[in-house]
Amino acid sequence: MVFLRVSETIMADTLLFTCLLLFLAAMQGVHAVDYAINDNTGNSGGGVRFRTEIGAQSSLQTMSSATDFIWDIFQQTNPSDRKNVPKVTLFIENGDGVAFAINNEIHVNANYLGNYTGDLRKEFNGVLYHEMTHIWQWNGNGQTPGGLIEGIADFVRLKANYIPSHWVKPGQGDRWDQGYDVTARFLEYCDGLRNGFVAELNKKMRSGYNAGFFVELLGKTVDQLWSDYKAKYGN
Ligand SMILES: *[C@@H]1O[C@H](CO)[C@@H](O)[C@H](O)[C@H]1NC(C)=O
Repeated sequence: MVFLRVSETIMADTLLFTCLLLFLAAMQGVHAVDYAINDNTGNSGGGVRFRTEIGAQSSLQTMSSATDFIWDIFQQTNPSDRKNVPKVTLFIENGDGVAFAINNEIHVNANYLGNYTGDLRKEFNGVLYHEMTHIWQWNGNGQTPGGLIEGIADFVRLKANYIPSHWVKPGQGDRWDQGYDVTARFLEYCDGLRNGFVAELNKKMRSGYNAGFFVELLGKTVDQLWSDYKAKYGN
């Protein structure tokens, strides 16, 4: 009798454990993001450099880590908080410029990588974190100013510690919505005034954009915040 009871308990535990595994697998199936890479570079110098110094596997891993990092920065613990993107494809191609994101695709110019002098992996990761932010951020239904969109992407890059040395220093720049590094530094200042500011701003931009968001979150207009920021650094 005693043995039977023990084995019944074990069976019940096994069943419970199996159910838990199935449940976790189902959750994964619903929410997992697929990552793919499409290397169109052939034998270009940049393509060869990409494959020898970075590689496909490492890129896919960085895309996945970037996603987790971005959801964390945006405080999107619940899948319903996030954009619904089932798959992100990275294209490595012989193009122009540095990189861009469009339609859940990231395009990186291999010529840029080929000619890069400095820490190539750090630069590549920084570019991926920036572009992956474009995949996940809300854009106020197209109403958010472009400079703010780019500033948030670079804010994530800053938080990930993948910024290049040519970036402006804190307090530099002409306008809050200048974009990229200038706006990223300003957003870091705002985030210091209210921890999680960028996450809350992003949340508000799910359905639209309004300059009043700054007032709602920080009690001051964005222009006032910009002049406070400039004054703090003696500009
Ligand atoms: C450097 O850039 C030029 C111009 O885009 C390109 O033709 C050349 O292939 C690049 N070099 C490398 C090693 O990728």
